[in-house]
Amino acid sequence: MPPAPRLVRACRQEPLDRPPVWLMRQAGRYMAEYRAMRERYDFLALCHTPDAAVEVSLQPYRTFGMDGVIMFSDILIPPEAMGMRVVFGDGGPSFPEPIRSAEAIDRLIIPDPVEATGFVMSILRQLRTELRADSDTALIGFAGAPWTLAAYMIEGGGSKQFSHLKQLMWAQPDALHRLLDKLSQTVSLYLQAQIEAGAHVVQLFDTWGGILPEEAYRHWILPYHQQIIRAVKAAAPDTPVILYVNNSRGLLSCLAESGADVISVDHLTSISAARDQLGTRFALQGNLDPISLFAPPEILREQVQHLLHEGGTQGYIFNLGHGILPHTPVDHVRLLVDLVKASAATPAAR
Ligand code: CP3
Repeated sequence: MPPAPRLVRACRQEPLDRPPVWLMRQAGRYMAEYRAMRERYDFLALCHTPDAAVEVSLQPYRTFGMDGVIMFSDILIPPEAMGMRVVFGDGGPSFPEPIRSAEAIDRLIIPDPVEATGFVMSILRQLRTELRADSDTALIGFAGAPWTLAAYMIEGGGSKQFSHLKQLMWAQPDALHRLLDKLSQTVSLYLQAQIEAGAHVVQLFDTWGGILPEEAYRHWILPYHQQIIRAVKAAAPDTPVILYVNNSRGLLSCLAESGADVISVDHLTSISAARDQLGTRFALQGNLDPISLFAPPEILREQVQHLLHEGGTQGYIFNLGHGILPHTPVDHVRLLVDLVKASAATPAAR
């Protein structure tokens, strides 16, 4: 048996000659190959068509040689399977019939992931086949976390104020808990199915987890992270779980109680501050500011080197602090990946 992929070994905190590198949202509009696929498929069709989604998942890997291939999909696919109509327009995703009542919550189903989202499992199985000659590259599955999914489903789309979500939180807390519980069950089954279909690692994205202060976070968010991670670990104890919460500054002690193996930090928390706070119980992932990819190459180079030094070669995964942006210069992505890979020649101390 070949050793586990580099990314998995980093999650397990094994010493390496360099950290693995991949980028959140690495498949996307900054790549001409992706834009060409989007001429032929609208976004949801791309998510629903395994051959096309496999192709798009592999585009960044083939072009830049990341150490991880994240399946191409979206966090809003499970809510669709629960019974909600989702639309991806130019202004981002939306739910034309958002959840505004307890009845709407009770109507949602907890879908069987293989029956309802078999196309996602096909994407993963096909990607594992594509990667069979490269045992060092990891296949990454993912899901949105309940709080972020609930925020989209209740607001009907992206939001700045989250006023509908907060209204429901105050007016009908039990209903909101029922929704978060249904989402947790859905996400637990969905991630387990992804692991069965071949994902080496799974990441939970809580993009809107940072909008609540700590006490409320502990009530509305943390228990559901724990519920999902406990379920995934019971079914697949060896599969690492990465937790990403955007805007998590001030919440790291809560993330540490989630049960995740890896904490993915945004660019507002330095890797060394996160390590000081969390100790060596967790591997860390992150956290280059996505905007740094627009900096002149010499500045980008400096920032990458700094992060390599901070992260070290044990228990660290090189990534961005949030998803890559649509107009990111491709050459800078190449420079970033090349610099991380070249760091193997000049090992840094942890
Ligand atoms: O990382 C990858 O390459 C895998 C694919 C992936 C997508 N979305 C594809 C996508 C992943 C992991 C996601 C996660 C996702 N989706 C999150 C969590 C991570 C984060 O960035 O905070 C969220 C909040 C969403 C919801 C979503 N989907 C939004 C807000 C948008 C619109 C914003 C945007 O970037 O356009 C999407 C659309 C989307 N999802 C695109 C891609 C490549 C762009 C759609 C297009 O081609 O027009």
